Amino acid sequence: MTLISELTILQPADKENVDAPRTSEEELAVGKKRLYIESYGCQMNFADSEIVAAVMRNAGFATTSSADDADLIFLNTCAIRDNAEQKVRNRLKHLNALKRQKPELLVGMLGCMAERLKTKLLEEEKVVDIVAGPDAYRDIPKLVEEAESGHKAVNVFLSREETYADISPIRLNSNGVTAFVSIMRGCDNMCSFCVVPFTRGRERSRDPHSIVRECTDLFNQGYREVTLLGQNVDSYKWHPTPSPSPLGRGEESGWFAPLPNGEGLGGGVTFAGLLELVAQIHPDLRVRFSTSHPKDITDEVLYTMAQYDNICNYIHLPAQSGNSRVLKLMNRTYDREWYIGKIDRIREVLGEDCGISTDMISGFCTETEDEHQESLSLMDYVRYDYAYMFAYSERPGTLAAKKYPDDIPEDVKKRRLNEIIAKQLEHSAARNQRHIGQVQRVLIEGPSKRSDAELCGRNDQNKMVVFPGGNHRKGQYVNVLVTECTSATLRGTVI
Ligand code: SAH
Ligand code: SF4
Ligand code: F3S
Repeated sequence: MTLISELTILQPADKENVDAPRTSEEELAVGKKRLYIESYGCQMNFADSEIVAAVMRNAGFATTSSADDADLIFLNTCAIRDNAEQKVRNRLKHLNALKRQKPELLVGMLGCMAERLKTKLLEEEKVVDIVAGPDAYRDIPKLVEEAESGHKAVNVFLSREETYADISPIRLNSNGVTAFVSIMRGCDNMCSFCVVPFTRGRERSRDPHSIVRECTDLFNQGYREVTLLGQNVDSYKWHPTPSPSPLGRGEESGWFAPLPNGEGLGGGVTFAGLLELVAQIHPDLRVRFSTSHPKDITDEVLYTMAQYDNICNYIHLPAQSGNSRVLKLMNRTYDREWYIGKIDRIREVLGEDCGISTDMISGFCTETEDEHQESLSLMDYVRYDYAYMFAYSERPGTLAAKKYPDDIPEDVKKRRLNEIIAKQLEHSAARNQRHIGQVQRVLIEGPSKRSDAELCGRNDQNKMVVFPGGNHRKGQYVNVLVTECTSATLRGTVI
């Protein structure tokens, strides 16, 4: 998954009318207890916070954008690398101070770090009252009640079925235009460096009817882009329960048999089928997805992308390393040649312009200098539009922690990482240069960061485009002639 590295404070949003001034939920919250949620880690965690907000609203809590106002503070945490956990530990120090001023304040730890550390968190961090893992969010109101009566409360049970399919998320910190929609949970891949299979449990796919319903509702509320989220979206697989099916007509056999509007999903649905169902909701609803696993992405997905203009030409296809021996140690189950084969296929079916991004890890166990060079040469081969790049961080309990020495010194990991970053900056700039002189279709997300007179939005390939605002409004599509760029942004004017 794409990592949202900086801490983001979630705020309530008005989802009824994207252009109306935001009515603060705080105004509606008179007499209610107030919940403040802070999210860390990947987009799935951010999407989960929106489920938690919905569960808590049903339990009579209103969300607030200020920790100082809150009766209850949740940190939805990440455990992917050691520094993600350190960030949360530092934040807890602050909350400790807040709690000293306001002893009745309750603090809950949710998400992956909560799942990883379980009751140990309560022993190590006295400020924490509630610990809830990613599959325990329906239980949170009960845990809060328990904590209110003075007992520490924990639920870290991992489920094989929970997808929160029936819960309508409350959009937090929303621009009213783009939204994330979880289509599956967990991961069965067991990459040797990764803690996610331990913190999120077994992979399970969400009922496609509920996904299509959520995306349709979003479109009707004015949203114009959905990103379908999963750790490995290509292994999305749903089959109706054996007859009598409570969900549809349902008795035909075979995968990939979607009917318009998702009604009567006869056979099973693969990811390609799901993409098609969501793309068919409306041509003005853009569809993105993340993350694709190189071992699983199929031609069927590429053809579906080619067939629908509203499925964005952008694939996040993390390589992790460019060396086959390291990939084997990482248990990624593909090698350099397989990965290159997938890239070639993407270019064949979707053309040179398809945006491709990656995740790269520097200094994995036993990685030699030559093997690191192969990561750089893979990057030269692909010329990624964008990359998320990390130094290897050993995670307790993972296969790599058990089997391989974390033997690359920190300064070497850092130096290799810097080489990867420098390479990527060159490629991002060169890939962005290609767009100069082209007209790009942009979905306006709102004012640019720097100036209210400028608007910004993304093109098909997920690149941010900034342009003078004029009379245009967020949620609209505009054609922008690109005239300049940096490695991060395109600039131009609406034509
Ligand atoms: N499901 C996604 C990845 C989710 S985690 C996939 O398979 O591609 C996001 C990224 O964090 C990973 O792609 C990897 O590059 C990085 N990552 C995961 N564990 C890590 C570790 N122990 N040290 C450094 N980076 C790690
Ligand atoms: Fe982690 Fe691998 Fe699963 Fe991605 S596919 S979440 S890296 S185990
Ligand atoms: Fe996401 Fe971090 Fe968990 S990356 S799945 S929140 S460990």
